[in-house]
Amino acid sequence: MTHEFKETLLYVENLSVAYDDTVIIKDINVIEKDVIRPNVDCTGQVIAFLGRSGRGKSTFFKALTGLVPSNTGKVLIRDFDNSEPNAAKPVKEGDIGLVDQKYTLFRHKTVTEALKFSLRKTKLSESEKETKIKQYLKEWGLENCKDKYPNELSGGQRQRTAIIEQLFSSDNFIVLDEPFSGLDVGNIQEVKKAFDLLGKSSEVNTVIFSTHDIELALELAQTIYVIGYPTIDGKLQSYGTIVAKYDLREMGLAWKDYCGDHLELSKEIIHQMMIS
Ligand SMILES: Nc1ncnc2c1ncn2[C@@H]1O[C@H](COP(=O)(O)OP(=O)(O)OP(=O)(O)O)[C@@H](O)[C@H]1O
Ligand SMILES: [Mg+2]
Repeated sequence: MTHEFKETLLYVENLSVAYDDTVIIKDINVIEKDVIRPNVDCTGQVIAFLGRSGRGKSTFFKALTGLVPSNTGKVLIRDFDNSEPNAAKPVKEGDIGLVDQKYTLFRHKTVTEALKFSLRKTKLSESEKETKIKQYLKEWGLENCKDKYPNELSGGQRQRTAIIEQLFSSDNFIVLDEPFSGLDVGNIQEVKKAFDLLGKSSEVNTVIFSTHDIELALELAQTIYVIGYPTIDGKLQSYGTIVAKYDLREMGLAWKDYCGDHLELSKEIIHQMMIS
């Protein structure tokens, strides 16, 4: 046995969002369960969303994190404060951290100040906060940036700071909208490393991200969803929904280096994206 599915972490049912009268996404259904792997401590999940531009990935992420209201449907997340098996609660703004496409940071706060601010809701003492910030800055290679303002940081440094901010202010879930866009090849490696750290962190165990880079999605994720326009009765619709789901664990492609089988799957995914 390579893995076993446990409790539901994320449950999205019939979610739809409209801006004014235009339906942007509709009929979105997602169930993600906790996964246990024998002899592996970390049970972190990485879930990728792919899809052509304008299909509604960012809109879905905003609805998922409670930043835009949904028209129909519900989003439930595992209630970690409740010890009952499968205890779930409706998501509200602040439960799931969203690192947005532009990864905006506070312009007038240094990295340390911004991180301290994102810990304001925790019960940690001042010295515990300082220790935690120091530990993260070290682990994430940001020690030299601790007193810098956002305009003094590189894209990758800003991105990592934004990720840590969200890690500090939300627990268990983190959503990243195109975390790799606009980064150079070195920064991409840094953020990939950050994904590894996220998977190993005991605080966060579900990482959801969108990307236009299919290879990166195949490398990092265990589940890949494609958001696209569905075809109904031969007619292409103009709202986004989940048109395909690939469970890399079930396909024997998760937790391993990119290989020929991944390449085959990427061709299928490209085809799926082109027709939706
Ligand atoms: N605030 C808004 N008001 C009206 N329409 C919007 C708003 N935000 C997004 N849209 C529209 O919703 C659709 C989906 O946009 P969204 O940003 O979710 O796509 P996306 O899949 O994230 O695209 P990309 O890959 O380019 O980031 C687009 O047609 C967009 O024009
Ligand atoms: Mg987007």
